[in-house]
Amino acid sequence: MLRTAICDLFGIKYPVIQGAMAHLSTAELVSAVSNAGGLGIIAAAGYEPDWVRDQIRLTRQQTDKPFGVNIYIPSPYTGQVVRVVIEEKVPVVATGAGNPGVYMSRFKEAGIKVMPVVSSVALAERLERMGADAIVAEGMEAGGHIGETTTMALVPQVVDAVTIPVVAAGGIADGRGLVVALALGAKGIQMGTRFICSEECNAHLRFKEKILKAGDRDTVVTGQTTGHPVRCLANRLTSELLKMERAGASKEELEQFGKGRFYQGVIEGNVEEGSLMAGQIAGMIKDIKPVKAIIGDIMAQAEEIISGLESFRVEDRCLNQRR
Ligand SMILES: Cc1cc2nc3c(=O)[nH]c(=O)nc-3n(C[C@H](O)[C@H](O)[C@H](O)COP(=O)(O)O)c2cc1C
Repeated sequence: MLRTAICDLFGIKYPVIQGAMAHLSTAELVSAVSNAGGLGIIAAAGYEPDWVRDQIRLTRQQTDKPFGVNIYIPSPYTGQVVRVVIEEKVPVVATGAGNPGVYMSRFKEAGIKVMPVVSSVALAERLERMGADAIVAEGMEAGGHIGETTTMALVPQVVDAVTIPVVAAGGIADGRGLVVALALGAKGIQMGTRFICSEECNAHLRFKEKILKAGDRDTVVTGQTTGHPVRCLANRLTSELLKMERAGASKEELEQFGKGRFYQGVIEGNVEEGSLMAGQIAGMIKDIKPVKAIIGDIMAQAEEIISGLESFRVEDRCLNQRR
């Protein structure tokens, strides 16, 4: 069975992590992923500390397996959420959209494993020096807020720069992606978009169906002009936002126009006026299935590919002998 350093670090069966997704990675999805042998991660996003505490307790009611909380560093509640995860003895903290350095010593004292998400080698190196236990290297294929480098280019560069285990994220949704990530030197994968199309994810059915219908070129990146690029499925909202950006709209105007759109899209199912964050791999997702099947199929496909490569080597050797 495929086991890596990430499995040992977090005490999980499979090297598969469910990336935090604001509004979507709540106790139901998180506990399903952890029960299926991966690592589920609650998205604290901009939620108040009491909501995060409730989600941690609800998750614990549904699984006795390890899970994590993703802390969105720019949230006004970050300090209070840090206190909650320490009090609740959450085993793993992931962090996004910033540098968690000031909180690192408190996490370490509490015995919490820390896994920041980065999109550059420089930040990965800095966070390793500060005591991170693992790093998620996320390429620009991913859904949500993104950097500039692709997963294929970023992951091996981060792997070469740090000694802690690296998890590859962005553009992965099957066993082929897992094998490639391992070949690039990563010790596991993190997926977001694939888990939206799981039975346990509370995303609105119209959002899930929009992913199922998406093709390879159906995502766009808005927010380039403000320095906060976001990858979403293309719809009326993104056309409008891109038009405003081309016309030179200010950061404030764009933020005002985009306010509340994510909840409207992914929870209320307004798939034209709402924001539908999703990655480029959406074009490959063709079914909604239970989390257990998603993870099981990925592991089975990865094992099959790896044993196929092994037999290819044997065939190659026979061929060379015959020559
Ligand atoms: C709908 C959605 C919401 C997301 N919200 C967050 C978030 O709140 N915090 C975070 O660190 N990453 C967030 N992400 C990124 C994911 O955790 C994950 O790294 C990413 O989806 C991986 O790429 P993929 O979509 O190609 O699988 C989000 C992604 C999506 C698709």
